[in-house]
Amino acid sequence: MEPEKGNPAIQVHAEDVCRAFRAVGAQAGDVVIYHGSLSSMGTVVGGPTTVIDGALQAVAPGGTVAMPTLWFCPADPPRRREDFDLATSPSYVGALSEALRTDPRSLRSHHYSHSVSAIGSRAAELTANHGAGGLSPAPWGWDAFADISPWGHLYEWNALYAFIGVTMRVCTMKHYIESRYVARTMARAPEARRQAMRDGLTSGDRQGVWPFYNSEAMEQRLTERGLVATSHIGSATLRAVRTRPLVEVTLEILTAEPEAWFQPAFLEWCRQAD
Ligand SMILES: CC(C)(COP(=O)(O)OP(=O)(O)OC[C@H]1O[C@@H](n2cnc3c(N)ncnc32)[C@H](O)[C@@H]1OP(=O)(O)O)[C@@H](O)C(=O)NCCC(=O)NCCS
Repeated sequence: MEPEKGNPAIQVHAEDVCRAFRAVGAQAGDVVIYHGSLSSMGTVVGGPTTVIDGALQAVAPGGTVAMPTLWFCPADPPRRREDFDLATSPSYVGALSEALRTDPRSLRSHHYSHSVSAIGSRAAELTANHGAGGLSPAPWGWDAFADISPWGHLYEWNALYAFIGVTMRVCTMKHYIESRYVARTMARAPEARRQAMRDGLTSGDRQGVWPFYNSEAMEQRLTERGLVATSHIGSATLRAVRTRPLVEVTLEILTAEPEAWFQPAFLEWCRQAD
């Protein structure tokens, strides 16, 4: 997405990053994950590593800083799942993410489409065994947003989920939420219908249904409920929400108003459960 336009006249140092993360709730020992735009902040003195170091300061001592380091995206020639290389496949989600992936301190989870990289005391726990258990439906494989995956751990740990100069439109955690919505719908379906429901979902190359919802519109709703804290890093807005309310309140809203959020084909798919 288009990020906020940065003001290059504003210089940003690690202390500014630390102060802003603290202002939106980061504490000692916390787990923080962020998406972001480097240019939106102004001139970051020292580049992306300054942002990593500032975020680490905000959660010190004992904290963990993570970013999505996604590789699988439309490309020419097309990227193939089997070509993902944990050590070398670059992140396509911006300079901040690629810097965290290549930082010698960081660890990366092993998933072709939804890997996460992290630095800090819980980095190993966060990134290990991506998809090893608690599988949950998703177009990129049932391991992508499993309970045992960085996304499952981020939810479980009530991590601080932040956005630098970008909105919640880029929130990868939305797919974890979508996955839980699908899993819950299938769980209430009669056993005999579950296989057909499963076959109706988008999966890899198979075109089916998936409850993609508008996460920018959802940001508005979460903000109205007072769940999104904001601050600034240089010229960029820093937004942050805790993952438990992010997941639980979003699921509550989606469940209460499915017609407002989902495509008719997905709503039709849901009716098989009733
Ligand atoms: C796409 C996106 C990354 C573009 O943001 P951006 O600021 O233009 O790009 P990056 O964050 O990659 O930063 C690179 C830019 O920072 C600028 N830059 C370089 N050094 C800099 C510094 N020290 N300080 C400030 N800006 C700097 C340059 O303009 C550079 O652009 P260039 O490489 O074209 O010259 C951003 O809008 C976005 O969407 N981020 C989130 C992506 C995401 O997480 N998606 C999840 C899946 S949907």
